Amino acid sequence: MQDLVPPPKLAPSLLSADFRNLGEQIRKVESSGADMLHFDIMDGHFVPNITFGPLVMRWLRGETSLIFTAHLMVDNPESVIEPVIDSGADIVIVHVESSSNLYRLIQSIKDRGIKAGVALNPATPLSSLTYLLEDVDMILIMGVDPGFGGQKLIPSTLKKIAKLRKILLRRRLPKDIAIDGGVTHDNVDTIVKAGANVIIAGTAIFDQNSIEEATRSLKKRCLEAYDEYISRLSR
Ligand code: DX5
Ligand code: ZN
Repeated sequence: MQDLVPPPKLAPSLLSADFRNLGEQIRKVESSGADMLHFDIMDGHFVPNITFGPLVMRWLRGETSLIFTAHLMVDNPESVIEPVIDSGADIVIVHVESSSNLYRLIQSIKDRGIKAGVALNPATPLSSLTYLLEDVDMILIMGVDPGFGGQKLIPSTLKKIAKLRKILLRRRLPKDIAIDGGVTHDNVDTIVKAGANVIIAGTAIFDQNSIEEATRSLKKRCLEAYDEYISRLSR
C-alpha cells in the first residue's frame, strides 16, 4: 500500500508568514522538518485578495532547497505559468475553475520538465478532474473557499479526500493529494487518515508562538497518522 500512497509531506504556506522576515522564517521551517514551501499567488480577480508574484519566489529560491509549490489563484493562469517556472517553481498548481483549457495547460507545465497539479474549490466536484488524473502529479483539495488564511475547515472536505484516494487506489495511481485551508494541530490526524498526504498549513505554523515547534509537531502528527492509515489499508 505504501507504494500507492506517497509519504506525508508538510508544506508551510507563506500567506501567514511575517513578510518582514521571510528568509529567517523559511530557515526555521526547513530546519524543523518541512518538505515544501507553498506560495499562494492571488490576483484580486479569481479570489478577493492580492498577494505576491513570481519575483518573490525568485528572491527566495536562493535561500532554501525546499520544494516550491506555486498555487495559482488567478484568472488566465496561462499568462503567469512561464514566469513562475522561470522563478524556480518545482510544482505548479492550477485551479480547475480558472481555465477552460486545463488539459493543454497541464501539458504545457509538464513540457517544461516540472510537476503539475490541479486544485479544486470546495464547490467543485471530483468528476471535473477524473479525466486527467493520470496526467497530474498532485490534486489539491481546498478545505475552505480560497483567498485567506485562518478559516475553518469545511467538514465535507474529509469525504471528498477519502473518495478521491479511493478512486486513485482503485486505478493504482500513487498521486499526491494535498489539503489546503483549515488545517489545525487538532484535525491533521483525521485529514491524513482520510487519505491526504500533502499538508499545506499557514496559520497552524506561522501564527504560533514557536514556528519550529509547530512545524515539528505537525510533521510528527502527519507521520504517525500516515503509518496508521497505511496499516489500516493493508489489513
Ligand atoms: C487559502 C490559501 C492557503 C492558506 C491556508 O486560499 O490557498 O494556502 O495559506 O491558510 P490556513 O492554513 O491558515 O487555513
Ligand atoms: Zn494555497
